Amino acid sequence: ALRQSFAQKAQKQNQNYQYQLQPQASYKVTVLGAAGGIGQPLALLIKMSPLVSALHLYDIANVKGVAADLSHCNTPSQVLDFTGASELADSLKGTNVVVIPAGVPRKPGMTRDDLFNINANIVKTLVEAVADNCPDAFIHIISNPVNSTVPIAAEVLKQKGVYDPKKLFGVTTLDVVRANTFVAQKKNLKLIDVDVPVVGGHAGITILPLLSKTKPSISFTDEEMEQLTVRIQNAGTEVVEAKAGAGSATLSMAYAAARFVESSLRALDGDGDVYECAFVQSDLADLPFFASRVKLGKKGIEALISSDLQGLTEYEQKALETLKPELKASIEKGIAFVHKQP
Ligand code: NAI
Repeated sequence: ALRQSFAQKAQKQNQNYQYQLQPQASYKVTVLGAAGGIGQPLALLIKMSPLVSALHLYDIANVKGVAADLSHCNTPSQVLDFTGASELADSLKGTNVVVIPAGVPRKPGMTRDDLFNINANIVKTLVEAVADNCPDAFIHIISNPVNSTVPIAAEVLKQKGVYDPKKLFGVTTLDVVRANTFVAQKKNLKLIDVDVPVVGGHAGITILPLLSKTKPSISFTDEEMEQLTVRIQNAGTEVVEAKAGAGSATLSMAYAAARFVESSLRALDGDGDVYECAFVQSDLADLPFFASRVKLGKKGIEALISSDLQGLTEYEQKALETLKPELKASIEKGIAFVHKQP
């Protein structure tokens, strides 16, 4: 019996040893706008991922110090810095996931659309470089107004002949993160269990949390439904006002974006059970782009989850119809911007 137990132990150790010999997942992630308010904490969180072997940080300024600082963390990925247009291409070559938080944030009194003029050009230029250097990468657009910058990115990729709608995402994870937090607080639930799908777009009334589809299944009074919906829609403005001119959400945004990066990497790595909400090309709502839950796989979006949109409450159905014209106009503004260019 003793010999048998030694044999079992040896076999177990051998299995552990083999497990350790499994090759480490090795994905390359590039952050464009990495020295910014979102870029820095996002880079830190990505540096913590065991799935990342190379982390490329690009910005027009101040990125050298960020990279030097992060490179001292004893996690697997190698951190490299890239500064200015002449180093943009190199930052992108061979990358699997590109995250774009480049651009200006809101100040009090501004809507996300007020950022259009500056950020539209930034996103256009950066996505042109993505098309030229890593056309197969997953592209995560954080720069606002997401309702317009994602259509801009799509048009640029089309012009370059490399558009894959399954790999272009507007990052709306922060809306889900906020919805989960506020619902858990209101209903006194364990945060880890709560999941609220958020559909539509990523600005004001286009953000539509589907509270009736919350997991675990719970009921809301009409008043709770209204209060929570409005708070989730205005949560970004809550932060803009609290920061009083110093910018918009950066830390919670970095947290949310890191979750979306990690989900993308897990999907790329073959995990067959990865779902996230994102603003993507869609046929779920008679609009060219629409945020919904999507199933992620090795090649990007494997399915749009349409079931969330069935059996909505009257309040949600009405809110869905109300948001469509505004979302449509923002999408068209983005598309027109690219075609207006000389
Ligand atoms: P920030 O001003 O702190 O950082 C922006 C960074 O972009 C700066 O480091 C700047 O040098 C860089 N940048 C500017 N032009 C660039 C270019 N052509 N190429 C590369 N980098 C460039 O702004 P913050 O707070 O990090 O916000 C960034 C963007 O994210 C804003 O547009 C903001 O509205 C958006 N945002 C989106 C959210 C979402 O849920 N999708 C939530 C919060 C903010």
